[in-house]
Amino acid sequence: MSEKIKKIAILTGGGDCCGINAAIRSIVRTAIVKYNYEVIGFIGGYSGLYADEYIEMTLKTVSGMFHQGGTILKNSNRDNLFSYRIKDENGCFIKKDVSDVAIANLKRHEIDAIIIIGGDGTLTSARDFARKGVNVIGVPKTIDNDVPGTDITFGYRTALDHIVNALDALHTTAYSHNRVMILEVMGRNAGWLTLEGGIAGSADAILIPEIPYDIHKIAKKIIDRYNSGSQFSILCVSEGSRPIDGDVTVKKIVDGSPDTIRLGGAGEQVARALEMIVSPITGQEMRSTTLGYIQRGGVTNCYDRILSTRYGSYAVDLVENGFFGNMVAIRNNKMTYIPIEEVVGSGLIGETSLGGKRLVNPQGDLVTAAKGIGIVFGD
Ligand code: F6P
Repeated sequence: MSEKIKKIAILTGGGDCCGINAAIRSIVRTAIVKYNYEVIGFIGGYSGLYADEYIEMTLKTVSGMFHQGGTILKNSNRDNLFSYRIKDENGCFIKKDVSDVAIANLKRHEIDAIIIIGGDGTLTSARDFARKGVNVIGVPKTIDNDVPGTDITFGYRTALDHIVNALDALHTTAYSHNRVMILEVMGRNAGWLTLEGGIAGSADAILIPEIPYDIHKIAKKIIDRYNSGSQFSILCVSEGSRPIDGDVTVKKIVDGSPDTIRLGGAGEQVARALEMIVSPITGQEMRSTTLGYIQRGGVTNCYDRILSTRYGSYAVDLVENGFFGNMVAIRNNKMTYIPIEEVVGSGLIGETSLGGKRLVNPQGDLVTAAKGIGIVFGD
């Protein structure tokens, strides 16, 4: 092992989620209590590292925020310092590699290692800093649960709770009005939130990106239910779902973000299509609700508090032992680590994986069980 670690930094990047504060607390407490390190936290993700905006992290800084969603260090999901949007001498915006400025800031603070908490976009930059010799440890977070190399990310289970609560609420109003209620759920191109949320929330149909749907098969399910006496239906729909003969619904493009596409509108699209097919037969009305950013906020649930604590503590153990360039991971309920190089853009196998994302396996246990109890996916 190299020289004794004295000072570390923390940075949180990408979209926020529940459990980040719990991970920060765990890192700071482990660093101070177990290893007697100094800790600073950069504010606002990579932009804070570039602008040298930081706070000293003490036991007091992390007191009272364990349960809170969000991040006391703030996040940004559009600041890639290897292609950063800055103004040139003429006042025009250009993209420039400013990673050396960030590295100089780390050196000036005498930072021995930086723990970077983020999803795939944030971890891609973490890998790039590691390639330039920075001592980096990655900690995976995202409600999407799509990071390869680990079984679960924190933020996911709390988001699931929000989805299930929403589906429970939609059931009573769907029943009262004999309506078809559609809940659009986040997750980008991964269907985990929709699949597990839909199963737990007793959805009749689940539409996920991994299984393009035939709207006529969804319509048939609703009509069959109606004819057998269930005059309402509940659909859980991924923002990244798409019909077999169509594409995903794009809400907006965010320049500077690792993934510039923001999805949205899939639920409304399904509602309009079903209105054409189902309503003339059953007379039911369709209503679509987009759960949106509620999924990312609120009070962190017990599972995520514990997972974040384990991730944070283990990340500092990796720092102490000099295991840099790795991401902490959990597999079969055991803490472990994996090179960030292998995680990012890897196509690693989770349930199944495409383009470096851990995706739902359409032939896997979860989908099979859901189909077994009569949930339709439109395939
Ligand atoms: O990756 C987390 C996530 O919440 C996705 O589920 C969603 O598609 C996206 O972030 C939204 O990003 P933004 O915060 O930029 O709107």
